[in-house]
Amino acid sequence: SRLEGLSVDPLQVVGKEMRFLTQNIQQLLGSGHPMLDTVAKYYTKSEGKHMRPLLVLLMSRAISTTPKSSRRPSVPTATRINDPISPSTILSDTNPSSLQSISVSPPVSDAFEGSDILPSQRRLAEITELIHTASLLHDDVIDSSISRRSSPSANISFGNKMAVLAGDFLLGRASVALARLRDAEVIELLATVIANLVEGEFMQLKNTAQEEAKPIWTEDTLTYYLQKTYLKSASLISKSCRAAALLGQCSPDIVDAAYLYGRNLGLAFQLVDDMLDYTTSGEELGKPAGADLELGLATAPLLFAWRKHKELGVLVSRKFTGVGDVQMARDIVLRSDGIEQTRALAQEYADKAIQAISNFPPSEAKEGLLDMCEKATKRRK
Ligand code: FPP
Ligand code: MG
Ligand code: MG
Repeated sequence: SRLEGLSVDPLQVVGKEMRFLTQNIQQLLGSGHPMLDTVAKYYTKSEGKHMRPLLVLLMSRAISTTPKSSRRPSVPTATRINDPISPSTILSDTNPSSLQSISVSPPVSDAFEGSDILPSQRRLAEITELIHTASLLHDDVIDSSISRRSSPSANISFGNKMAVLAGDFLLGRASVALARLRDAEVIELLATVIANLVEGEFMQLKNTAQEEAKPIWTEDTLTYYLQKTYLKSASLISKSCRAAALLGQCSPDIVDAAYLYGRNLGLAFQLVDDMLDYTTSGEELGKPAGADLELGLATAPLLFAWRKHKELGVLVSRKFTGVGDVQMARDIVLRSDGIEQTRALAQEYADKAIQAISNFPPSEAKEGLLDMCEKATKRRK
């Protein structure tokens, strides 16, 4: 086809939508309390990759030309679009009939007239970024992290209490925006994501906080890690891709393909994240490097190293708290093929993501989705 061999910049394929995204997110997060307003918007103003909304928008465009399914009742367009937007203030929100600060979907401006991406899909993209950002606010508290995106983290700038509350506020606003999509299946998916994020984080805590006297490496070790990784990272990406296809009234096979794409890409993405924690400097990452071992976490590179270097077991069991444990574990991992195996597994998942959408009709947006798979495995930060 015409597109083959052409490299497509995914950001450019949905560039116009992405330019409106940040602006709309600011509106969703408006609070009458100036301090809450500041903390809630803090991470949305830094240079994030916006990977999740980008994927939702690319997915929405890529599936826009596939056959529609009449399986799901569609919501009358009028109620989606014409709800009023009024400035969000604490006062207006105390009036139950006036939580109008969040319209059903982003306002339809001339810029999007007749667009193949629905307003509800654009709103979904914003919701994914809100949920992701909420999880980062909470994560940096849990990890006692000092920096994110090359700036002090929110917990450092505003303290733990405000960071946690700001995260909760984001989840609240995400929930309102979600409810206003008036699509029970999509609401259920994204609500499940929020629960999954917490479950993933708990599995990670248990992994490190639980004392099994001398853990032995088994195949379950990797299975547990991958399940945790799905919940913590791939759930949001996969279920939001699925939701984009549902909002697009796609047929069940397209809905499943969108989910599988997101699931596999999400797993690849987090595997690479865990690899970069070993291989890249904190300066380049914009957040502390080598943080996982310091936090007592055994991620993929270490788990692969452990399979051959059984002496890691005792370090894992005490969460690398012994004198010199972190350095010793790091040295063993770097001498082993743990990094290479992690990279190879990430590549396997990326290939599965590519495979999942192989039946999508050719389009620039599809090329963008494929390019995201390449970027996920090749990225340096
Ligand atoms: C980043 O991981 C964190 C996540 C992907 C999810 C964190 C989830 C929670 C804190 C549960 C609560 C969430 C909500 C929405 C209520 P990381 O610490 O490995 O990555 P990092 O290096 O970017 O900090
Ligand atoms: Mg963290
Ligand atoms: Mg964490």
